Amino acid sequence: MTKRALFILTVAVTGSLAMPVFANDLAGAKVIFRKRCTGCHTYGKGIKVGPDLRGVTERRQRFWLTNFIRSSSKVIQSGDPTAVTLFHQYKQERMPDWTDLSAEQIDAILDYFAADGPSQKEPDERHASTATVAEIDMGRQLFEGQARFATGGRMCVTCHSLRGAGVAHGGTLGPDLTRAYFKYQDKALTDFLKHPCFLMTSAKTAGALLTPQESFDLKAFLARAAGLAIPAPAKGPVVTIATARTSLAEGLR
Ligand code: HEC
Ligand code: HEC
Repeated sequence: MTKRALFILTVAVTGSLAMPVFANDLAGAKVIFRKRCTGCHTYGKGIKVGPDLRGVTERRQRFWLTNFIRSSSKVIQSGDPTAVTLFHQYKQERMPDWTDLSAEQIDAILDYFAADGPSQKEPDERHASTATVAEIDMGRQLFEGQARFATGGRMCVTCHSLRGAGVAHGGTLGPDLTRAYFKYQDKALTDFLKHPCFLMTSAKTAGALLTPQESFDLKAFLARAAGLAIPAPAKGPVVTIATARTSLAEGLR
């Protein structure tokens, strides 16, 4: 059966477009952590409403953590000494129960903590001058459409030229981007690429955003085109935390 047929069948049977849930889904874990946990917890920045979660996978057992995150109220009521101590220590507020999180999702969050995930920088927080040759080249491919965006966004060359990099044949809806890197500077260009112009497109690509790595590759390519000196690595591409994490995530699937 083709992938497409299988997809249609799945939708017909389940009647939904629910995303598949992968065990150890680090990307999913990151989103859950940001949306549901950071209101009360930091990771390595001290006590907020609840304890600092850095090192929590070392100070507690996995099964304890899984039960506690799923339903801290039950664990506290059971008289578990660790839970009761925490409860008294953080009297002013209770941790909500997260019974809608699956065992796989909680597992992924704990893997994310154990890998020190929340304290790692996103690739697009790096300065363009740290880019490798491979990253700049990927930026060029994304810009010109030889490589596709993970979420299916439209290639930049549809609307932009980049004469500084010899891309003169681009669309004219948007300005030539040769000077864009210096006009915005590093940090502001990263912010610009988070709320991008390329969403002015069809419903087909609505909601398409760049991944942090795609954003970084494009920034590096624009920086090179604008004339920023980017030291090339002596040999081989540098393995960044991000690429290592991606291959880790892929390996775990
Ligand atoms: C409304 C605030 C709040 C939110 C949101 C919250 N927590 Fe908590 N968390 C607490 C408090 C307070 C405690 C201390 C125990 C208690 O009083 O319930 C705690 C304790 C914990 C502990 C035990 C820490 C230790 O040192 O043993 C873990 C693990 C934990 N939370 C994980 C999470 C995760 C994962 C999320 C997101 C899915 C989350 N918390 C969301 C308030 C919160
Ligand atoms: C559908 C057409 C379209 C696509 C596709 C598109 N852009 Fe744009 N872009 C525009 C327009 C129009 C503007 C000017 C208005 C604005 O700032 O939003 C612009 C502005 C910009 C600017 C600011 C330029 C300046 O001088 O202020 C940057 C940087 C940029 N785009 C980068 C990109 C990148 C990188 C891509 C590919 C990921 C991309 N654009 C894809 C239409 C597009």
